[in-house]
Amino acid sequence: MRHKHSDYMHWSKTQSRARFNLATSGVAPFPLRELPVDLKELEINGDDSYGYAPLQQAIAAHHGVDPECVVESAGTSMANHLAMAAIIEPGDEVLIEHPAYGPILDVAQYLQANVKRFRRAEQNGWAIDPADVRHCVTPKTRLIVITNLHNPTSALTPESVLREIGDIARSVGAFVLVDEVYLDAVYEGPPRTSFHLGSEFIVTSSLTKAYGVSGLRCGWILAQPDLGWKMRRLNDLYSATPVHPGELLSVVAFRHLDVLRERARRIVEADRNLLGDFLARQSASSAVWTDWGTTSFVRLSRSRGSNADSFLEQLRSKFDTSAVPGRFFEMPDHFRIGMGMNTEMFAEGLNRIGRALATEMA
Ligand SMILES: Cc1ncc(COP(=O)(O)O)c(C=O)c1O
Repeated sequence: MRHKHSDYMHWSKTQSRARFNLATSGVAPFPLRELPVDLKELEINGDDSYGYAPLQQAIAAHHGVDPECVVESAGTSMANHLAMAAIIEPGDEVLIEHPAYGPILDVAQYLQANVKRFRRAEQNGWAIDPADVRHCVTPKTRLIVITNLHNPTSALTPESVLREIGDIARSVGAFVLVDEVYLDAVYEGPPRTSFHLGSEFIVTSSLTKAYGVSGLRCGWILAQPDLGWKMRRLNDLYSATPVHPGELLSVVAFRHLDVLRERARRIVEADRNLLGDFLARQSASSAVWTDWGTTSFVRLSRSRGSNADSFLEQLRSKFDTSAVPGRFFEMPDHFRIGMGMNTEMFAEGLNRIGRALATEMA
């Protein structure tokens, strides 16, 4: 049987909620009433067979790329699916970082890829070591997949390392897929997209995580025009046309992106300050620090044993607080917490995590 589901996505949709919900990864929803849009600007149907030109142009301008290289998609989720499915044939070798965002692995398995892994080591700040990638790559490698920022750790991969990965891919005729859905959560001077680094780079992203408009499902792929057309043609098998009111609202969101960014940045920064204080006081847990991103990957101290699941169950049942179990990232002694929803809730959630840790240690 082919792999046809995502355990993480199912958990996230059915089990992740609690009064103090730190199992998030994107920022608080941006309210429609705060988006300067006149209902008269909206329409139900429009000229968008293979994408809506004004939206394609807005995405292209955001990244400084040719609109021909922009493929619209339903969120980064569909972007990742289309990008991988356009490239991978059953049995193709695909190199994926470890730890990884579950659905990326799920899609590769669904496409019957031969998945190999290269490690991001915690003691190395979760950085990618290009030597590890070089060690894994073979002439059969078709695709190398990374997230930047990295989910779950928010580690940022510098352009020099991305270039090295590009060189490795090019040496065997492979592509590099960079999921940049969190890159704009470097709110202070976000790095440019890796799409500029060479024709072997394919980039996926959306407005969902860093800007709080997930419901618009405004996602995209940046790819060379020929490959982009393969993805558009493949998308014909999944959905005939995009949701046009969503495209129109997305164009408005791009027009006011500074407002969305500022709102998100304020909440994320307040939460990050609280997280810094919390981690400084903690001996039962630790995390690699980043000055950006919406998630942090916290490790339970060795003395607690190596499984966060029982701790997170207690946290939910006794403290009404949730975080994402590390097992969804193949690291069961960790858990992921999300910033950017609501600072009061975040403060109390951290407080409860601290109390739960203290109870466990007692
Ligand atoms: C790395 C990564 N890619 C893609 C997605 C899905 O993004 P979207 O909501 O834009 O479909 C997520 C969601 O958590 C993610 O963490």
